[in-house]
Amino acid sequence: MNQHVAMVTGGTGGIGTAICRELAAQGMKVIAGYRNKEKATLWLEQQQAQGFDFELAYMDVSDYESCFHSFISAEEVVGPISVLVNAAGITKDKVLKKMTPDLWQQVIDTNLTGTFNMCRIASTCMVERGYGRIINISSVNGRKGQFGQVNYAASKAGIHGITMSLSQELARKGVTVNTLSPGYVMTEMVAKVPEEVLESIKGQIPVGRLGEPAEIAHAVAFLASERASFMTGSDLSINGGMHMY
Ligand code: CAA
Repeated sequence: MNQHVAMVTGGTGGIGTAICRELAAQGMKVIAGYRNKEKATLWLEQQQAQGFDFELAYMDVSDYESCFHSFISAEEVVGPISVLVNAAGITKDKVLKKMTPDLWQQVIDTNLTGTFNMCRIASTCMVERGYGRIINISSVNGRKGQFGQVNYAASKAGIHGITMSLSQELARKGVTVNTLSPGYVMTEMVAKVPEEVLESIKGQIPVGRLGEPAEIAHAVAFLASERASFMTGSDLSINGGMHMY
């Protein structure tokens, strides 16, 4: 069997790191997309010290040309990319009356347009080769909404719109497209939520705790595998029972 090559946008982030490690553990060659060079260099050293051998690729996911250049250059160096995980995402939480148009746009550009950009580039190459797995990381808050997250919830709901539409376009081309919607997971992003707010959020999670990044990564590894061939257009929720649908 050929070794699959995976690109993970936001690969140096909290959930992204766990995904890179899990896909590598499954035998894939993994390219981690990053935006901050200093952070990425340090990250790579830490991963190497723990026995993981990743490639890095700079990209600003909100910029189509940057995504295109990054994807094509990575393929030239590492080989055809058969798995794309769109895990790059940001929050800029504020109640709507304090949410400036700029805070809206930054989140939409990174989370939603970033997913469009990467899906468009990767799916074109995957269709030519007749095989691919695309996993778009959304959020429980894209389904249920969240106080202070008009921008983020809209972007994450939109991501599943991309998945549902693109999965239909690619269903007969050997390429599956799925959404994975994590709940509140122990990452730097969640650590930014004010302590008292986070405590009240934990109280809304039936399993009684935050998720671990590895608990998300295990499910990504399944969606990224050849075995997930009949699963497309779905939204897999992993949220400790916080929101059931
Ligand atoms: N429910 C009801 N009322 C709330 C509230 C809540 N969750 N949070 C704040 N309020 C109230 C405040 O008490 C305040 O009331 P008063 O005006 O009567 O005093 C009012 O709303 C406005 O509050 P602030 O002035 O603090 O508003 P703000 O815009 O500066 O900040 C906030 C509010 C940023 C939304 C803050 O509450 C917050 O950070 N909430 C958490 C949002 C969240 O869950 N983010 C998830 C980040 S992690 C992630 O997104 C990953 C993922 O996919 C799950």
